[in-house]
Amino acid sequence: MKTVTTKEGVRHLVGEWKKASLTVGFVPTMGYFHQGHLSLMDECRKLADRVIVSLFVNPSQFGPNEDLASYPRDIERDLRLAGEHGVDAIFMPDEGEMYPRNHRTWVIVEDLTERLCGGSRPGHFRGVATVVAKLFNIVQPDVALFGQKDFQQLQVIRQMAKDLDMPVKIVGCPIVREKDGLAMSSRNAYLSEEERRSALCLYRALTLARRLVLEKGVTSCLDIQKAMREEIESFPFTKIDYIFTGDPESLQPLERVRSPLLVALAVFVGTTRLIDNMLI
Ligand code: PAJ
Repeated sequence: MKTVTTKEGVRHLVGEWKKASLTVGFVPTMGYFHQGHLSLMDECRKLADRVIVSLFVNPSQFGPNEDLASYPRDIERDLRLAGEHGVDAIFMPDEGEMYPRNHRTWVIVEDLTERLCGGSRPGHFRGVATVVAKLFNIVQPDVALFGQKDFQQLQVIRQMAKDLDMPVKIVGCPIVREKDGLAMSSRNAYLSEEERRSALCLYRALTLARRLVLEKGVTSCLDIQKAMREEIESFPFTKIDYIFTGDPESLQPLERVRSPLLVALAVFVGTTRLIDNMLI
């Protein structure tokens, strides 16, 4: 596996691949790999001749009071895991390489970014869309893979690629969970033992919503949200950021259950903000 730290280096390497008529698959990440990241790499291996992963903790998607400085990192372990999962190259730029001093251009995806995580993290998706657009221009992949764990992010990237005529196929991949249902996340590393137990409330609330719709025939989204709220609040250390029930394409909220229904939520467990979602 090759480690590349400059844009120039990536262009050269990918140029060689393209000259040999090889297709290029890309998995953007912020590192501290878990099974969710690794499942994207495995899937990418099946879809393209060469796999390149980026590892960059992107400062522009973190708010001033968020966890940029403490975001978990373990480069050595990440490199080993990526190698074991058949990754051909890993792009690890530093901040200056991605954002030279005079960076002035930002990508804003309207409407889709106003609710859910966009509502509670202003500027977050501007940072995500910009860095992903830059990475697409540097890597020029044929296909790029994203997890449905970050459902809104996936929709924002799809919209951006479509609106800006980016010649890349966007593929969404299923959420990978711990045995008990907790969605894997680099941020789970922040949880204490007690908080880890409470973190299960997200999955419990989602499966409750699914049961209410599919088994009890509940049709009011407000009733579903109310039941989810009560479920979450029965766990200690939890504070709800948002609960969303709505259309998975437009990300518009719905009053009545429709198929498919996106149920998504963000909950603080202690000081750690966790997200999860389910399509019903
Ligand atoms: P990061 O949180 O490192 O996630 C990288 C990719 O892994 C994303 O596509 C995310 O949806 C996916 N992923 C995370 N947890 C997952 C899980 N449990 N199951 C399946 N996929 C999972 O998302 C980002 O980084 C950044 O915003 C990025 C797109 C790299 C831009 O900076």
